[in-house]
Amino acid sequence: MGRRPLVAGNWKMHTTIQEARKLAEAVVKAGADVIDRDIMIAPPFTALSAVFEIVRGSPSVRLAAQNICWAEKGAFTGEISPVMLKDAGCSMAIIGHSERRHVFGEDDAMINKRVLGAFEFELVPVFCIGETLDEREAGKTMEILENQMRSGLAGVTADQAQTVVVAYEPVWAIGTGKTATVEQAQEVHAFLRGLLVSMFEKNIATQIRILYGGSVNPENVDALMSQEDVDGALVGGASLKAESFDRIIHFQ
Ligand code: 13P
Repeated sequence: MGRRPLVAGNWKMHTTIQEARKLAEAVVKAGADVIDRDIMIAPPFTALSAVFEIVRGSPSVRLAAQNICWAEKGAFTGEISPVMLKDAGCSMAIIGHSERRHVFGEDDAMINKRVLGAFEFELVPVFCIGETLDEREAGKTMEILENQMRSGLAGVTADQAQTVVVAYEPVWAIGTGKTATVEQAQEVHAFLRGLLVSMFEKNIATQIRILYGGSVNPENVDALMSQEDVDGALVGGASLKAESFDRIIHFQ
């Protein structure tokens, strides 16, 4: 059974509200003719409400947060609750991004809490995992990914797992211009699919979308998307330029 591809733009810490509006308008326009794939954009928190006003009428574009707290409300200075994110128009949330893990020290246990919190409030987690260059060179890629996957999705039910999106983003490929080769991407994605089969039932694991992220651009997207277990892309830098993201949305 075919998985519906998902092209996701992670805007990271870019765009003022006005810039975000403009970019969102371009994405809605680019997605207007798209019927066989989903599009997601994750602007910074400050621009979510403004962007939602632009994407709300679009059948293909969904709004995501770049992170999410597990609690509904309370003494969590600097965090944003799932209820607030839904209020701002989000239906999805990126969780465990490599920058959260490596720049801000979020660990697997915290990421797991965020994943469970997103599910509790019916937001779809875009759960990110990935190995560093040192880990890859030490031959530990699969071991690291398995640990991240098992701890990050601990306690997730089979029903919930059906909707989760997994994003494989090798840390060495993020923002470096160094994309994983299509063979490297497919090798890892197939491994992750097998792992999901062992964690959930096969008919659930085969429905889970696994995105590739790390220097995806208009030149390499078609080859990456041609791989059997690559179900979409999580795009950073190239999602900030309307023409590039348009081309990525229209991968062939
Ligand atoms: P780049 O596409 O800029 O490498 O970023 C990838 C990423 O981290 C998306 O979440």
